[in-house]
Amino acid sequence: MQPELPVVMGHRGAPSIAPENTLLGFTACFQAGARWTETDVCLIGDGTPVIFHDSTLDRCTDQSGSVADIDCADLPRINANQAFPEQGFQSIPTLRQALVHFEALGMGINLELKRHDHVAPEALVEAVGNVFKISDFPAGQLMLSSFDFDALRLAREAFPTATLAVIAENLDADVLDVAAELKASAVNLWWETLSFDQVRQARAKGLLVNIWTANQPEKVASMIEWGVTSLMSDCPQLFQAENPVV
Ligand code: G3P
Ligand code: MG
Repeated sequence: MQPELPVVMGHRGAPSIAPENTLLGFTACFQAGARWTETDVCLIGDGTPVIFHDSTLDRCTDQSGSVADIDCADLPRINANQAFPEQGFQSIPTLRQALVHFEALGMGINLELKRHDHVAPEALVEAVGNVFKISDFPAGQLMLSSFDFDALRLAREAFPTATLAVIAENLDADVLDVAAELKASAVNLWWETLSFDQVRQARAKGLLVNIWTANQPEKVASMIEWGVTSLMSDCPQLFQAENPVV
């Protein structure tokens, strides 16, 4: 069954107006009208799944070094808000905390399985799976996605009925092959190299097409007409016409 995706999703929340991949950022994304967001899950040193994009702390936090070198006990002292100091301290959410927050907001998530080099795909999928096992997050509000084909294969084994999306810059043959193998619902493609032909090919295979990271409405409007299902944006507030606040 295909998921019901909105035309506009946030991307790491709404990082043009609030710190990326934080609970505050997800609330801002929701308030900007997006009912779903893309977000990234990775493992820190003790194997805890957290919501964080980079392999190092340097860009987004007040600390430096690899995420492999921090544990759950370190999270309360790391400020993940470097971009909007006036919005105050924000910690890196654990996946568990984030699921509770998304459920309270009624928000759907395109959860990107982000496998950094220090982590095996088996460890990533097992740890994420363990969190979902103790959560009652609604399946219809979840899409699991990844650039990592091994992680997606393991996710399909662990979650036989989950909605999966293959992320890729371009719709190469191997992307279509793995999407078919895994019975994926969607391909999540880079908008800058997207063509009408790519959208046509994917849709002909029964796949939804979602694009990242679309921040200029005028540049992607025609792509919706081509058959793109959903766009992920750092600026969901710019897409009010497609994304009415209800
Ligand atoms: O999930 C789509 C997009 O987020 C992939 O790139 O680097 O922003 O995670 P990145
Ligand atoms: Mg991502």
